[in-house]
Amino acid sequence: MELVDKINKLKKDKKAVILAHNYQRPEVQDIADYVGDSIELSKKAMDEKDAEIIVFAAVDFMAESAAILNPEKKVLLPSAGARCPMAQMLTVDEIKRWKVHYPLLPLVLYVNTLASAKAYCDICCTSANAVEVINSLNAETVLFGPDHNLAEYVQEKTGKTVIPIPERGFCPTHLLFQPEEVQILKLQHPEAVVMVHPECTAEMRKIANFVGSTSQMCKYAKESAAKTFIVATEEGLLHRLRKDNPKKQFILAYEGAVCPNMKLNTLERIYISLKEEKHVVTVPEPIASKARKALERMFEVRH
Ligand code: 13P
Ligand code: SF4
Repeated sequence: MELVDKINKLKKDKKAVILAHNYQRPEVQDIADYVGDSIELSKKAMDEKDAEIIVFAAVDFMAESAAILNPEKKVLLPSAGARCPMAQMLTVDEIKRWKVHYPLLPLVLYVNTLASAKAYCDICCTSANAVEVINSLNAETVLFGPDHNLAEYVQEKTGKTVIPIPERGFCPTHLLFQPEEVQILKLQHPEAVVMVHPECTAEMRKIANFVGSTSQMCKYAKESAAKTFIVATEEGLLHRLRKDNPKKQFILAYEGAVCPNMKLNTLERIYISLKEEKHVVTVPEPIASKARKALERMFEVRH
């Protein structure tokens, strides 16, 4: 039996669903029941009422959020080593240090954080709703972590003071994009529209026609009359963009823009994960309850 057939059989036998992030390998996206950005995947995990197992083809913090929101389900991360380096940049000790200096300020955390950090925040956000989340708060100054580029973007958009914690948290993959390469591509494709993820630098955002989360880019590309797009986010998204828009052209703004952690999930590892029911992601109490409150508060904000 082909590996894909074996996975599909196990999925049926075990009442499992596979949720895959937009950065997953093409073959993983193709076998998934649902492909989306971080907020869509969290919501989808809650919608899958009949599923007993969720295979979360993504990185640690996304699987942790699914486990927090679905304590009755078994959440599996196919590759135990798939960790988002940005999420590791904000420790609980660092949060406590900032809270001593700013005890009265609300703390907003990007979902790209570990559950232990989320437990200390007032509300979470994703790159799709960060502006709306900050606007929903009755405060002119907020602490925001761990991505300083997203913090800066949100500050520009809301006019509020957004203090990044740590001072320079970043995504190593999105830092690879540089405006110079985009200028060269623009010379070759002058009609192209530039889409940039908010984890990119301010210089990249400045030359963008559109700034948004991965799924917001998919929506924008679908609705746009443009035929060519230069894309500044992890290369996995281009598979989905091309699949959804076969008549449009998508060019990666930097060829080496790969998130090695996202790519750890292979079909083989998904098969083993389902067969052996590993690696189970659990979040202990009271961290889970506290982090759940921050995630649920985010879901209440309209965007
Ligand atoms: P999205 O929420 O846009 O999917 O982004 C998640 C992420 O990890 C970006 O690097
Ligand atoms: Fe983390 Fe960046 Fe990979 Fe997203 S692309 S999971 S932020 S390292």
